[in-house]
Amino acid sequence: MSLLSVADLRLTFGGLVAIDGLSFSVDEAEIVSVIGPNGAGKTSAFNCVTGFYRPTSGRITLRGRDLPGLRPSAIAGLGVARTFQNLRLFGELSVLDNVRAGSHLWLRQSVLDALLHTPRYRRSERECTEQAHHWLDFVGLRGDRYGRAGNLPYGEQRRTEIARALARRPDLLLLDEPAAGLNRGEKAEMLDLIRRVQALGVAIVLIEHDMGLVMEVSERVVVLNFGREIADGRPEDVRRDPAVIEAYLGGDTAATGGETGGTTTNGKDGVGRDGVRRDGAGKDRAAEGGTGGETEGKDGTAGGDAHA
Ligand SMILES: Nc1ncnc2c1ncn2[C@@H]1O[C@H](COP(=O)(O)OP(=O)(O)OP(=O)(O)O)[C@@H](O)[C@H]1O
Ligand SMILES: [Mg+2]
Repeated sequence: MSLLSVADLRLTFGGLVAIDGLSFSVDEAEIVSVIGPNGAGKTSAFNCVTGFYRPTSGRITLRGRDLPGLRPSAIAGLGVARTFQNLRLFGELSVLDNVRAGSHLWLRQSVLDALLHTPRYRRSERECTEQAHHWLDFVGLRGDRYGRAGNLPYGEQRRTEIARALARRPDLLLLDEPAAGLNRGEKAEMLDLIRRVQALGVAIVLIEHDMGLVMEVSERVVVLNFGREIADGRPEDVRRDPAVIEAYLGGDTAATGGETGGTTTNGKDGVGRDGVRRDGAGKDRAAEGGTGGETEGKDGTAGGDAHA
């Protein structure tokens, strides 16, 4: 049985078909990338898996268990963690506290423990802090852990978000454009980090516009175009697929090569289907399900008929 299975997923917002029949699966500790031009439906697919959006039809299962209908916090509790295309750190909190917030999901403490400051509470708080330090070390955070997360440079905030996701001890990590806005050196470090996460036994679904990174790290690549899946295969096959080249590389085969930090795949001319030019970083999209952490059940924020 696959870890994650997405079958014939459809998602509509009123008249707009955001996802039109997406099927793919992810095995334990596998890295699968989902690529496609701006507006292809990639983030929406993540939002369906994590419970932010309710699919119009289709199935999503984690180890055979149906996910649609469960709250985002319940899905997180089943071992699915994510990062966001727009960073979602609590900017006023310290870096350490942001990551501590990740581990609270599996800590065993009650409200009473917290109120009475029982030994159990103190022990679990200590463990939570130790875990946060561990994951910040793991992602290689260089900045001040005790300072405000909002003060960290962009690349460091991306790392912190990954540390927070890892603190949840997920079996499946969904990364939405982790390399967006990073410089060449930081991208190489991100590639290394993704591999190290996989080595922990964590499966990863990666949305990314940097083709060098995608081709280097993925075992399989799923390609979306206007909500439709047009390819699913090994990177070396997908990059040669005429439908993929035609769909969003504008017939330029050379564009699928290159090292990390090279080519991106933001559509033929960098303009998405909704006509907005973007590079993945610093977007302001209500479509991702509101602000704040993913445990808060933002079912109401997206509009459209996806939440029926
Ligand atoms: N909550 C929403 N309400 C209405 N339309 C939405 C909503 N969320 C997404 N969409 C639309 O669905 C389509 C797919 O959007 P999505 O954000 O999933 O694309 P994407 O592949 O992640 O693009 P990008 O590479 O730019 O991040 C777009 O046309 C988008 O405008
Ligand atoms: Mg997106």
